[in-house]
Amino acid sequence: MAILSALWSWLPQALLFSLCVFFVAFLGYCLYIKHVHLKYDHIPGPPRKSFLFGHSALVVEKLERDELIHDMFLECAQTYGPVVRYNVLHYVILLVSCPKATKEILMSAKHPKDKYLYTRMANLFGQWFMGNGLATALNHEQWHKQRRIMDPAFSSLYLRGLTGIFNERAEKMMERLSEEADNNTVANMLHLISDLTLDIIAKVGFGVDLDLKYSSPFLKAIETCLKGMSHYIYDATFEYKPQNWPFISEVREACRLLRSTGAQWINERKTAINNGENVPKDLLTQIIKSAEQEENMTKEDEELMVDNFVTFFIAGQETTANEFAFCVMELGRHPDILEKLKKEVDEVIGVKTEISYEDLGNLTYLSQVLKETLRLYPTAPTTSRDVLEDIVIDGHHIPGGVTCMLSSYISSRLEKFFNYPLKFDPDRFHPDAPKPYYCYYPFALGPRSCIGQNFAQIEAKLVIAKLIQRFDFTLVSGQSFDIKESFSLKPKSGVLCKIKHRHTS
Ligand code: HEM
Repeated sequence: MAILSALWSWLPQALLFSLCVFFVAFLGYCLYIKHVHLKYDHIPGPPRKSFLFGHSALVVEKLERDELIHDMFLECAQTYGPVVRYNVLHYVILLVSCPKATKEILMSAKHPKDKYLYTRMANLFGQWFMGNGLATALNHEQWHKQRRIMDPAFSSLYLRGLTGIFNERAEKMMERLSEEADNNTVANMLHLISDLTLDIIAKVGFGVDLDLKYSSPFLKAIETCLKGMSHYIYDATFEYKPQNWPFISEVREACRLLRSTGAQWINERKTAINNGENVPKDLLTQIIKSAEQEENMTKEDEELMVDNFVTFFIAGQETTANEFAFCVMELGRHPDILEKLKKEVDEVIGVKTEISYEDLGNLTYLSQVLKETLRLYPTAPTTSRDVLEDIVIDGHHIPGGVTCMLSSYISSRLEKFFNYPLKFDPDRFHPDAPKPYYCYYPFALGPRSCIGQNFAQIEAKLVIAKLIQRFDFTLVSGQSFDIKESFSLKPKSGVLCKIKHRHTS
């Protein structure tokens, strides 16, 4: 009792002391922010909205209005030049669109992935998500070991052997398109292709037949996680606002669903390996191999397998589906380009249903169309690095100790790199046209570039070729051609089409 009353009598002093400590700490932090401002304010950038939160309010406004954050970044690059400064709390982020600096930053392993961004992707709202998997690993050694082991599953030789599965799965989508054509209904191309890319990654990557219909809980989980990532990364205060807590619980639940499914599939495959069964040399086998390099498997290594499972679903499903949908959207808007493509598909593929790896190589105009699609719509637009040492290039000084954000969306839409940048023109990528110099990188560049680039291109080419071979499509009028940003970029409308069988009527 005496102790309680003594504690009670000290309470006001304790409160006052805590308040003083908090005040001094806050003052110290503000002084540190001021120091950061003084140090970097010579680098051009838009006016800050607030001393403490810097430019983040500009980004949050865009997010809340469902507008494109990347358009704001693009305007800044147009107004303030190739190196633009952003402040958020004590962080300094430089938006770099200078090709030589892009080359220096992306091509060298000296500049690690940005700690702030990739830690948030690893651990989404406090729920372990992509963890230390291939895309988010910050430790170079840990990443390099995984990449070495995964590379064979993405080699041309291995992918060539998978064209049969790609064909088989794409045929299922053609059956669904055929139903849409028979019933004269409006097809949402993004929905259809999302099912397909999920189906393909599940089968090709993990040997599982998902056999999905429209509303898969998996697709919903991926979508929720990507939306959550967008808020978590761009809005430093999002998690502290009570109105967002129900959504945050949904995101955590979605992460758990993806991870528990991963754990289950991994265990089933491990049992098959232990029983001496024949298993495919797919992503899952590689993921298991990657972890087995460790002599003593720890709980952490087990977690790493699940990290990579989630990584491949997140990195490999939406990006490709969105690329396909944007491509159909632009073909629908450019009948001349579509006609030229039809001619190529008819010449190379004719009426055959099994498209070979060699056929894909011969579809050169289709390659150009897909490259141009990713120029205007790089579905994974951004990558960022912590630049540890000063870089001075072309009169631009990037001081060591800052984070540099590089965006293919921005470079690809700058007039100085591409004439009439908003015009959809596949001839920019004609084999004889000059190659863009470090201003076009939808799959990033250098050691941390996309491991799934060939996989994605085979998938997209094969599906577009089959679509054009069999169907005519027209875009439903009145739909928007705007872009929606939910970490990845996707067409806002979903790309609504009327489909008709091509060789009938
Ligand atoms: C059109 C489709 C795709 C696009 C535009 C794309 C784009 C990218 C970009 C820009 C990066 C770098 C990300 C960063 O630095 O944060 C990346 C990395 C990655 N992508 Fe893709 N990607 C696509 C398809 C795929 C597919 C199909 C897979 C797997 C099946 C995949 C797996 C990965 C992985 C694992 C990484 C991390 C690589 C590393 O750090 O070593 N991607 N991708």
